[in-house]
Amino acid sequence: MGLKNLLEELSRVSPNPEAEIDTILKLEFSSSLVQAKVSGLSEHEIGKLEKIVHERVSSGRPVQYILGKAIFWERIFYVNESVLIPRVETEILAEKTLEIAKEIRARRILDVGTGSGIIAITLKEELPDVKIFATDVSEKALRVAHRNAQLLNAGVTFIQCDMLSCFGENTFDIIVSNPPYVGESDPFEEYRKFEPHIALYGGEKGYEFSLKLVRQAQNRLKKRGYVIMEVNPFNVEYFVESINLKHKIYKDFNGLKRVLVIENG
Ligand SMILES: C[S@@+](CC[C@H](N)C(=O)[O-])C[C@H]1O[C@@H](n2cnc3c(N)ncnc32)[C@H](O)[C@@H]1O
Repeated sequence: MGLKNLLEELSRVSPNPEAEIDTILKLEFSSSLVQAKVSGLSEHEIGKLEKIVHERVSSGRPVQYILGKAIFWERIFYVNESVLIPRVETEILAEKTLEIAKEIRARRILDVGTGSGIIAITLKEELPDVKIFATDVSEKALRVAHRNAQLLNAGVTFIQCDMLSCFGENTFDIIVSNPPYVGESDPFEEYRKFEPHIALYGGEKGYEFSLKLVRQAQNRLKKRGYVIMEVNPFNVEYFVESINLKHKIYKDFNGLKRVLVIENG
């Protein structure tokens, strides 16, 4: 079976077969779809791709869970069904956080709902002198995050905690989060049936979790500290209306509102 047939087979379950083959090639062979189109694939590569595509089509499971790994910020992270699959949009959140952290010379940053640890670990890799803390309410997710921190040799402090309940006042310069923000009536994404409910759903409207997080962050942040969070582009207008705080919103590469930044006054 050649690349063309594999793409065809994958299109039975995937809205974007090219992107998925590209992901498999990157994760398994440090290659890419462009490279495969130019130089072709070896028999070994085709054989492996066939096996993965077959499992993907028959089980419906996302390739990242099949392979047990995912890419974020050009690094490979271990993932399993206890954590959300890292999304490329979240790189914009990490990028904005890095930019602000450098600007204000942040000393202590907290990542709430760390999941596989992608945000906290990326921040630690890019800002080795900053103290990075990361929480999750899910013990299973924290195990994945720990494993990734060990694999990438990143000194992050992980704490099992319900939102911000275990921290005192004036603790952080930045609180960053990619919170669960899907609402009960939001359009269904096929992947979601394999990902943890707790990582996805943020309440009936979707932004209840985020609202609570912003409120809890107010006194945990130092003066002139920042909350930087990923938002659901489809309910962000209602969300910002209910927080009623001065903020900025940044768009993703599809022109969708994706990152909310609030400076603590
Ligand atoms: C959308 S996922 C984000 C995971 C990861 N940060 C990422 O960007 O891929 C949200 C995370 O929040 C965690 N979570 C849900 N409720 C929580 C709570 N009350 N306190 C802390 N973390 C929570 C979930 O377990 C999940 O790992």
